[in-house]
Amino acid sequence: MMALLHVEGLVVGYGQFPVLHGVDFTVQEGEVCVLLGLNGAGKTTTVSTIAGLLRPQSGRVHFAGRDLGHKSPSARVSAGISLCPEGRRVFPGLTVRQNLKLGAWTRRKSSAVVRDQMSLVLDYFPRLSERSGQLAGTLSGGEQQMLAVGRALMSRPKLLLIDEASLGLSPTVARVVWEVTSRIKADGTTVLMVEQNAGALPFADRALIMEKGTLVYTGVGDEVQQVNLREAYLGA
Ligand SMILES: Nc1ncnc2c1ncn2[C@@H]1O[C@H](COP(=O)(O)OP(=O)(O)O)[C@@H](O)[C@H]1O
Ligand SMILES: [Mg+2]
Repeated sequence: MMALLHVEGLVVGYGQFPVLHGVDFTVQEGEVCVLLGLNGAGKTTTVSTIAGLLRPQSGRVHFAGRDLGHKSPSARVSAGISLCPEGRRVFPGLTVRQNLKLGAWTRRKSSAVVRDQMSLVLDYFPRLSERSGQLAGTLSGGEQQMLAVGRALMSRPKLLLIDEASLGLSPTVARVVWEVTSRIKADGTTVLMVEQNAGALPFADRALIMEKGTLVYTGVGDEVQQVNLREAYLGA
């Protein structure tokens, strides 16, 4: 397997002071990886930097063997990186289908790709299929989360970043979203999901744990199930 994503020595902050203190990790092509950590650990900062929304003070992001340098967020989408941001942020006044189409902006010249991705997404989430003509603002929280993930998939990414899909959802609805990651993986998209909720672990091939802007653990999901690790890093 090759490293699809290689993050090297990332130092990122919002002012003078960094909140990431030299973060290194890789995500292999064809895996579902979960980045766990408590609120404020630096998870959103990490995925925002990978997506090009934040500039690192130092360090690099390599994707498919290339240094992304100062590539813009939209150039990164074209290169195959798609972020489903924290807090869902669907367009409430547009329908499910219109929201999905907007996610395919970088692919708009290829109507076949847009059509294929649309049917794939509606197949992953039958609830969206039933509500495809409904305004996004009238969906439940869980359905809006499915829509946000679906919209991020519309660019047919090689790497899908999902930031806290489970936030504010019931355990049952969170599972629906986590379970879909195995199908997304099987269809050729590598997944890096960010979670505070250790309930995501059984759905991941590998886990990374972040604490105060530093990675403190990398390993297979099963090990993290051990009580001592959960207590030490996740407050669970
Ligand atoms: N826009 C911002 N301006 C200043 N500080 C921020 C901003 N966003 C996040 N931070 C700070 O950076 C740290 C990491 O935040 P974040 O990456 O959002 O963590 P997580 O996603 O793990 O909850 C926190 O201490 C947070 O307060
Ligand atoms: Mg966050």
